[in-house]
Amino acid sequence: MHASFLNRKSRRVLVLVLASTAILAAGAASASAGHGHHGFGHGRVGHGSASITSQPWGTAPDGTSVNLYTLNNGRGMTVTITNFGGIVQSINVPDRHGQVANVALGFSNLAGYVSDDYTTTASGETYFGAIIGRYANRIANGSFTLNGVTYYLNQNNGTNTLHGGAPVSQWNTKVWAATPISGRHSVSLELTYTDPAGTAARVPPMAPPAGNGFPGTVTAKVVYTLTQDDALRMDYTATTDAPTVINLTNHTYFNLAGEGSGGVQGQDLMINADSYTPVNANLIPEGGIVPVAGTPFDFRTAKPIGRDINSGNTQLVLAHGFDHNWVLNRSGSGLSLAARAYDPASGRVLTTWTTEPGVQFYSGNFLQGDLVGTSGHTYRQTDGFTLETQHYPDSPNQLNFPSTELDAGQHFNSTTIYQFSTAGRH
Ligand code: GAL
Repeated sequence: MHASFLNRKSRRVLVLVLASTAILAAGAASASAGHGHHGFGHGRVGHGSASITSQPWGTAPDGTSVNLYTLNNGRGMTVTITNFGGIVQSINVPDRHGQVANVALGFSNLAGYVSDDYTTTASGETYFGAIIGRYANRIANGSFTLNGVTYYLNQNNGTNTLHGGAPVSQWNTKVWAATPISGRHSVSLELTYTDPAGTAARVPPMAPPAGNGFPGTVTAKVVYTLTQDDALRMDYTATTDAPTVINLTNHTYFNLAGEGSGGVQGQDLMINADSYTPVNANLIPEGGIVPVAGTPFDFRTAKPIGRDINSGNTQLVLAHGFDHNWVLNRSGSGLSLAARAYDPASGRVLTTWTTEPGVQFYSGNFLQGDLVGTSGHTYRQTDGFTLETQHYPDSPNQLNFPSTELDAGQHFNSTTIYQFSTAGRH
């Protein structure tokens, strides 16, 4: 159902150029200012004063000090982000009566995120709130071929490479360099990280001419911006010094009633997609782009997340719930509506916009009640959902999907916005 590509690479470059133009236009309004360690200045916003502050938040396993940054839009919304993994630790937004709750699942301290590892908990690695790189989602058999060379990656999810390979190579385990920025109508946190060539290599290494790990040193920047209209905007940019593949996302789990408050089955979801990519038992797309019509995957009209989740559909059985890539409807290459979630009880609405071609909607299937979250409650299956905007899983091996290749000299650009509001009776 997606457009056919005469030349996959040139289309991707066009998309990137158009997206970067949009970002530049939007960014022009926010002047950069204020560097330091505490109280990074503020711009007057609406009734209150937008600000970004930081506090020490412990020490990463590599000995680097980590901070927790609080972005406050001066209008009742705050977001806390740590430069460990670029993790969004909390998103505090009002309901229709002005009651603020944290709608992002997470941990109360750094230790929770450091031990978020598939070897230590039955729930596996959750990636709560994190930036996912260098390749979000799965790459089948931990290998792909680029320009005639087959690269072998660490297999950290059965035979797959998931979310960048072993934790040691994942971007969500890295301490990012952080720069707070105060604009006139927003506050931002700029995070940068350089990912060396050869990261996520297969052990033991494969003999040449095989490639080991992802090729190319990638320099990445992610800017989180909190706006006066309750949007958390994420602008991703990256360059490489050699051809590689890249797929970036944010892995926040939402519960619009508040994290730790129970299941999200009663929260409504609309996904702006006519089709999705069914998977095999390894959760790798089988290659088809299939209409959602007449299936539990039809979220074109909002419906409760739980309405069809127990339906016995083979795809839902394979994934233990929803854990699939939807092929987003879009016209043009700029920001486009991806999804809208609504909690009828609180009235909170989350609208997701993205420049990406797909969204992985994951219904927290692997949460097993063995993790204690931010406010002291355990997280169980379906206690949160993710809307991971991205390219389709396994794109490096599926040449009918939009390309994830990035060449030296090209600029990767991607933007996603999580916009909060309220609706319903007052
Ligand atoms: C999702 C992925 C799930 C699961 C989860 C982390 O992005 O689609 O299959 O791995 O991350 O537990």
